[in-house]
Amino acid sequence: MKVLGIESSCDETGVAVFDTALAGAAGLRAHAVYSQVALHAEYGGVVPELASRDHVRKLLPLVRQTLAEAGLGVGELDGVAYTAGPGLVGALLVGAGVARSLAWALDVPAIGVHHMEGHLLAPLMEDPDPVHGAPEPPFVALLVSGGHTQLVAVDGIGRYRLLGETLDDAAGEAFDKTAKLMGLPYPGGPQLAALAEQGTPGAFRFSRPMTDRPGLDFSFSGLKTQVLLAWQQSDQSPQTKADIARGFEDAVVETLAIKCGRALDAAGCDVIVVSGGVGANKRLRARLQDMASKRGGRACFPRPSLCTDNGAMIAFAGALRLQAGQHDDAAVHVTPRWDM
Ligand code: KG4
Ligand code: ZN
Repeated sequence: MKVLGIESSCDETGVAVFDTALAGAAGLRAHAVYSQVALHAEYGGVVPELASRDHVRKLLPLVRQTLAEAGLGVGELDGVAYTAGPGLVGALLVGAGVARSLAWALDVPAIGVHHMEGHLLAPLMEDPDPVHGAPEPPFVALLVSGGHTQLVAVDGIGRYRLLGETLDDAAGEAFDKTAKLMGLPYPGGPQLAALAEQGTPGAFRFSRPMTDRPGLDFSFSGLKTQVLLAWQQSDQSPQTKADIARGFEDAVVETLAIKCGRALDAAGCDVIVVSGGVGANKRLRARLQDMASKRGGRACFPRPSLCTDNGAMIAFAGALRLQAGQHDDAAVHVTPRWDM
């Protein structure tokens, strides 16, 4: 089954073709992402109306480009998957409208996918580990993006139990806000992580929020305030900036690792699957790999380009659902707020 995937929930236009007949990463026949980061940079955040308009401009050219890269004619598609939510309503409607129209014109099924289910399943698209094979449920998923921080017990495809989530800022949001208060340009998360590479470990130590009590929820907003105070009271030299960035990154990474260990205990399994934009963070990847292998398990990640928003994860999640016989009715509708 060859499925076209369309992602347009926020500021990335993502298109991909996933072919279920090909095993592992080869199933991803082509994928392309157009980022609107430059468009929103001068506003310091995503402007919803501009995002929708840019999706309108970029989506169809990207569909053509992706099909050409996959070496497929549009008539060879067996289904179309799109992000139906959560996200910005106007941006979602662009993807949903294009996907539903294409599916109708081609007389193939269309399926709306939950954005976070796309992230959650993304690591399963990669080639199986030579020793352990592909991760198979049950496992615990850590979803860490700009809008979400969740720990989910995955009992099977479509069978998800929320174990814990953030009570305030998402991990990516904390990265972005902290970067902004130290004057780093938007979007700050990856820039803060790059700066932390030059920082001295331990020069600044921030708290590991909510790790001193039981439970799997998170709270990252206080960390940002701690950084603000440290930054204001510092000499604000380039080295101090890097040291603070390192202290912040270590606090987030350590907090996530502690909670992931506890989530594995709670769920009684030893495989943690990580996805969402913050899953691209190098130090988080290394720390979780270490944590999991020390307990005889493993941590699985998609390649960094499939951690951030993309159409591949939507094509893949949609293909699994279409294969299971699910599809949408003819109405175009999206769900901007939607629990998984
Ligand atoms: O999943 P994603 O692309 O979009 C959402 O659905 O939110 O995640 C974007 C988030 C942003 O907050 C960004 O700053 C963060 O992921 N991010 C990172 C890194 N790369 C992206 N945070 C820390 N380290 C990184 N290397
Ligand atoms: Zn996302």
